[in-house]
Amino acid sequence: MEIKDKTVTFRSRENHLVEVRSINFGDAPLLVDIFDHMTSESRYRRYHQTLDHVSHDRVRQEAINIAQADPSTNWGLIAFTDLPDRQNVPIGAVRFVCTSPLEAEVAISIRDDFQNVGIGTHLTHMLADAARKKGLQRLIADIQNNNPAIWHVFNSLPYHVLRQPEGVNSNIVISLTSPRHLAGSIATG
Ligand SMILES: CC(C)(COP(=O)(O)OP(=O)(O)OC[C@H]1O[C@@H](n2cnc3c(N)ncnc32)[C@H](O)[C@@H]1OP(=O)(O)O)[C@@H](O)C(=O)NCCC(=O)NCCS
Repeated sequence: MEIKDKTVTFRSRENHLVEVRSINFGDAPLLVDIFDHMTSESRYRRYHQTLDHVSHDRVRQEAINIAQADPSTNWGLIAFTDLPDRQNVPIGAVRFVCTSPLEAEVAISIRDDFQNVGIGTHLTHMLADAARKKGLQRLIADIQNNNPAIWHVFNSLPYHVLRQPEGVNSNIVISLTSPRHLAGSIATG
């Protein structure tokens, strides 16, 4: 699967029709919208810090930095669905940032009212597939030990995943060059 400006669609476990495309230069307001629909706890899990009192300007600037990051080292996907009162609503994003020519760090945000219906898993599989096709060998992440959902997501990938606990967090290394067969894994290739 090669995603450029193409849109890919899938159904969530609750039957939402989810559309996915790559993150573009002008997407900062959409990334802010996702952040605005995440609880303090979800924000903490994503950014590893309390962001309850962060200014809107700082959130906006961070979203601009993500949307307009150097495309040779940053890449991501954004997912949309229709709500009863609003169409094409951004509900989640996943991205990687290269830390070396062969390795990239992953980050995922799904707005709270769309968590636990399979969207994060699907986006992460799509991202890992794209990263492998771009020649990356490893995806890494720093996750909190009390975040079972993200561990579940990473562990569902059809690659060997190493988890190294370090205090309250764990370092995750996903080896894109070491496939493993998982029953029921999502085919994205
Ligand atoms: C973590 C996150 C990305 C997962 O995305 P999601 O769309 O909610 O995840 P999915 O629904 O695809 O999968 C979550 C899995 O974890 C499981 N899970 C959730 N909570 C769990 C818990 N407390 N204990 C055990 N398993 C749990 C779910 O059952 C599901 O597994 P299943 O598909 O086999 O049923 C999302 O919850 C999120 O954005 N959280 C806040 C930010 C964050 O934590 N980012 C990750 C660090 S970068």
